[in-house]
Amino acid sequence: MSPALQSALAALRRGEAIGLPTETVYGLAADAANPDAVRRIFALKGRPADHPLIVHVAGAQALDDWAIDIPEAARRLAATFWPGPLTLILRKQPRVPDVVTGGQDSVGLRCPDHPLALALLDAFGGGLAAPSANRFGHVSPTTAAHVRAEFGEAVPEVLDGGDCTVGIESTIVDFTGDAPRILRPGMLDREHIQAVIGPVQAGPAADSPRASGTLEAHYAPRTPLLLLARPALAREAAEQQALGKAVQVLALGQLPDATPGLALPADPASYAHGLYAALRELDGRGANLLIAERLPDTEAWLAIRDRLRRSAAGAGGSEAT
Ligand code: TXA
Ligand code: MG
Repeated sequence: MSPALQSALAALRRGEAIGLPTETVYGLAADAANPDAVRRIFALKGRPADHPLIVHVAGAQALDDWAIDIPEAARRLAATFWPGPLTLILRKQPRVPDVVTGGQDSVGLRCPDHPLALALLDAFGGGLAAPSANRFGHVSPTTAAHVRAEFGEAVPEVLDGGDCTVGIESTIVDFTGDAPRILRPGMLDREHIQAVIGPVQAGPAADSPRASGTLEAHYAPRTPLLLLARPALAREAAEQQALGKAVQVLALGQLPDATPGLALPADPASYAHGLYAALRELDGRGANLLIAERLPDTEAWLAIRDRLRRSAAGAGGSEAT
C-alpha cells in the first residue's frame, strides 16, 4: 500500500474526515460506523443534520451489511453498474447510525469506480460516509486542489486521485417507495437503468425525504450566474461590459468572438467532466456576473442541465457559504 493510502487509512481509523477521490466528485469521507466521525463531516461542511449522507462500500457484497428488504431490482442495478456513479436508497439496517441517515429509516449506498477509493475501502473493511467535499451549497470539487481550497488545514488528509472522470454527482435511485424512482439525475441515465430493471419514475415524490441535491439553490458559484441561449450570449456580455460590469461567459463548444470567459466541449461527457472546475475558475476571476450558455434540451444533457440550473438559482445567494 502506498504511503498516501496508509496515511488516509490511519486518519479514518482515528475517526477523522479525509478528502476521498471518486469518479464523480471528491467526497469528504469518514467511518460510517463511528457517529463522532460522521458528526465531524456535518460540522466541516456546515450541512444541516437532517441531510442524509451516502455510505460508500467496497462492492455489492456489502449491500446486506447496510440494508434490509433489498428488492431484486436494486441488486440487479448494483450487479450491473457498481463500481459506478449510482447510489441506491434502501431500507437501512438497524446498526446504521442515525447521524448518517439524518434520522430516516433509509440509507444511500454506492460503490465508487475509482482505484484509490476501492483500495481504501478494501483495506478499511467498513463503509465510508461521504458527501461531496464542498461547503454546503457550494460547487462540488473535482480535484484534490479543490478540496484543499474548500477546507484548508481543517482537512489535512486529502487523497489525490487526479481529476474526477465523470465530474458530476451520482444518479440516485430510491427503492423505498412503491416503484423505483430517480431522485437525482446523473450521467448514468434513466434509459440505461430501465434497460436493466424496467420502468422507473423520475423526480422527487411528493412525500420524499429531503435530499440536498434536490434543493433548488445548490452547486453554486459565489458570483451571480445567468443562463442565456447562444444568440444572446455575446450581446448580453457586451451590454454588461458597457455598463462597467466585469463579465465571464461559459460557452458550449466555442466562445463567441471578443467575449471573455471559457468554453467547454459540446458533448455531454466532456462538458460534465469540466463543468465544476470551469465554474470555480470563472468564479475566481473577480467578475460581477457569470453568463452560461443554455444546454441542449435532450435526455443526454438532462443531469448537466439540472446542475447548471441549480448553480444559477443559488449563485450569490445566502446558502453559498
Ligand atoms: O457522486 C456522489 O454521489 C458523491 C460522491 C462523493 O459519492 N456524493 C454526493 O453526496 O453527491 P452528497 O451528500 O453531496 O449528496 C448525496 C445526496 C443528497 O442529496 C442526500 O440528501 C441524498 O443523497 N441521500 C443520501 N441518503 C439518502 C436517503 N436515505 N434518502 C434520500 N436521499 C438520500
Ligand atoms: Mg453535494
